[in-house]
Order: sequence, then structure tokens, then C-alpha cells
Amino acid sequence: MRRYLIAGNWKMNCGPGRTSELLQGIKELSPQIPEAVDVLVCPPEISLTTASEVLNDYDVYLGAQNVHYEDEGAFTGEVSTGMLKEVGCSYVIIGHSERREYFGETDKTVNAKVIKALLDDLKPVLCVGESLAQRKKEVHKKMVKKQVQAALNSVKENNVSDVVIAYEPIWAIGTGETATPEQAQEMHEMIRSVLSELYDEDAADAIRILYGGSMKPHNAEELLSQPDVDGGLIGGASLKADSFTDIINIAE
Ligand code: G3P
Repeated sequence: MRRYLIAGNWKMNCGPGRTSELLQGIKELSPQIPEAVDVLVCPPEISLTTASEVLNDYDVYLGAQNVHYEDEGAFTGEVSTGMLKEVGCSYVIIGHSERREYFGETDKTVNAKVIKALLDDLKPVLCVGESLAQRKKEVHKKMVKKQVQAALNSVKENNVSDVVIAYEPIWAIGTGETATPEQAQEMHEMIRSVLSELYDEDAADAIRILYGGSMKPHNAEELLSQPDVDGGLIGGASLKADSFTDIINIAE
């Protein structure tokens, strides 16, 4: 049975000072993380060291929001898997729609980053999701299937179970326009069937598929009750200690 993963993508929010405050707030509200739930926070790079120090022995994983596929070199502004491991990261978000839209991330670079992350023992949180226009044209399933296939190109079965997939319909990100539980389940089920085709049923069953896109305490229960929704990748609501811990408690 898959364990729930509740992940916070803080995006470009929380420098070191706010990071410490937010994590202390989460610790106070949820001193003991429920047994059945894994929790992950992904601060901006500048705050990872602070986050690692504050998390210390608290049962919450640390992740980054991006990584380069090279080990080092003339890649101004980038960070490597080695650097993320050095500051205590065990996960890294790859291919978020905002990076695809604003920073030229492509299926090819996403695939290179997924392979590199797995090679260096970082668990990729691979983001896929369609635009509103694609959904209106009813090509959303085709688009998301292509993203999953491209991102997992050459990823072998023996380490694909370390991959987490986040289905994030772009039209639901930051808009308050959440996918319905039925829409989420339909897409998660489709993604799982793509994984079965690429690997086999056991591998597909082992991979966690998170929903992202305006998940809040008031809608989390319905979304998380769907059979193929294994958690959430949460933006806005992860920046408030009470909202984030409410969703963690709903997942247990
Ligand atoms: O990566 C998660 C994010 O894109 C969702 O953001 O604010 O809609 O929860 P939000």
C-alpha cells in the first residue's frame, strides 16, 4: 500500500528568517507527524541550510525546487545534486510548470534531471499537467501521457519506484480553481496506466502520484480519498503552518 506524501512547494517565498519561523510553527502545531504520512518541505535554495538545521531530528523530509543535471561547471545560478545532498535534501521537484513556462524547461531537460537525481539518490518529484487550452481541446490526456513518457525515458524499473509524480493541472495552480476529485482521479488513473505500460503493474502500483493545484484544508479530504491520489504538492497552503498541518492531519 502506498504511504501518503504531503509536500509543500514554497516557490519563491521564505528567506532563511521566515523559513525558520514557518518550520517552528509547523513543529508546534504538529510535534508528532502521523505514522502513515510522509511530509516534505521544499524551500527556496537560499533557505535550505536553515531548513535543514531547524528540521534537525523532526520527521519531515527536505527537498529542493530544481536541480541541474551536471555535477559542476559554468552554469551560472544553478545547483547540483551533490550540493543538494550536502545540505540534507532527499527530494527535488523537477519540471514544475512554472519552470517549463518561465525558465525554458523542456521534456528533454526534465528527463536529464530525473535520471541525474535518481543516479545521485535524490527522489524526483516529477511535475506534469495540462494547460486550460489543452483541456478545452480535450488533448489533456495525450499531453500528460507524453510528458510522463518523455520524463521517464531510459529510467529503469529498478529505480523508478523512487520517482514521485505530481499531477498539477496548470489551470488549477494558484487560482483557487481546484480540479474536482473525479477529474483528479481520472488523470491519476491514466498516469498509473501509462506507468503500467512503461514498466509493469507492480511498479506502477508502487509509485506515488500527488495532486497539486489549489489543494486546501477544505478540499483535501475529498481529493485524498480518491484511490489513485497518494498525497498533495501544495503551494499557497504550505506557507501557512495551520493550513499545512491541517492537510497533514486530514491525510492520516
Ligand atoms: O507545486 C505546487 C503548486 O504548483 C500548487 O500551488 O498554490 O495552487 O497550491 P497552489
